[in-house]
Amino acid sequence: MPDPSADGTAAVLDLGPLTDFEPDGARRVDVDGHRLAVVRLGGPDSTDVYVIGDRCSHADYSLAEGEIDEGEKTLECWKHGSTFSLETGEPTCLPAIKPVPTYGATVVDGRIEVRVDPDGGK
Ligand code: FES
Repeated sequence: MPDPSADGTAAVLDLGPLTDFEPDGARRVDVDGHRLAVVRLGGPDSTDVYVIGDRCSHADYSLAEGEIDEGEKTLECWKHGSTFSLETGEPTCLPAIKPVPTYGATVVDGRIEVRVDPDGGK
């Protein structure tokens, strides 16, 4: 999981308690003008959290409503089936050809924090 405060130039936003996010689940979170898909991998004790842009790059559908492949670390768009890497945001199959934004996330004192660049990821 990338460190959200690694370079100190981006805003760090609080997404709430880790326990509000279902293990092995994805949820859309709208915060500070950013539309995010928050994915929590692993079992109930896991703090393995990924955050990518929620808006599919093929059309405006929510990625958080798609299926997670935990082994591949991808999230599938439910509309037409493109899958996106949770680590890079790159699509791994058509029809999407553009990546979605990725955001550094970490768990601090039981809460998920995400780093957002001032100009990116909206
Ligand atoms: S809207 Fe996501 S693949 Fe088409």
